[in-house]
Amino acid sequence: MTKEQAMAGASDEIQTIYTKNCLSCHGGSLEGKIGPNTNLQKVGSRMNKEQIAKQINQGGNGMPGFGGKLKPEEAEALAAWLAEKK
Ligand code: HEC
Repeated sequence: MTKEQAMAGASDEIQTIYTKNCLSCHGGSLEGKIGPNTNLQKVGSRMNKEQIAKQINQGGNGMPGFGGKLKPEEAEALAAWLAEKK
């Protein structure tokens, strides 16, 4: 998957939030930089939007929670975009 394919469906704002907060561990093409579980290219086939939003807000399994850092609507928008990655 190319960066363009990975970022399809994400607004410029979402891409900026992703780049600042998520790219270091999940990679520029959602390929995952710290192990197979960090590959998000098909995350929407494993998790729904609510589950993804929960992971973003609360973290877990080695991922920090972003509940105190991102606005609820930012976490929601990231989750909606990632839930389409099937
Ligand atoms: C410090 C590294 C780190 C950062 C930063 C990070 N994550 Fe994660 N993330 C992880 C790890 C590690 C896992 C794997 C957890 C597991 O093993 O189930 C994960 C899992 C996930 C999952 C669930 C994947 C699955 O299949 O279980 C989602 C969705 C996710 N991250 C989204 C994000 C988003 C969106 C951001 C930015 C707001 C972000 N992550 C930032 C490390 C990180």
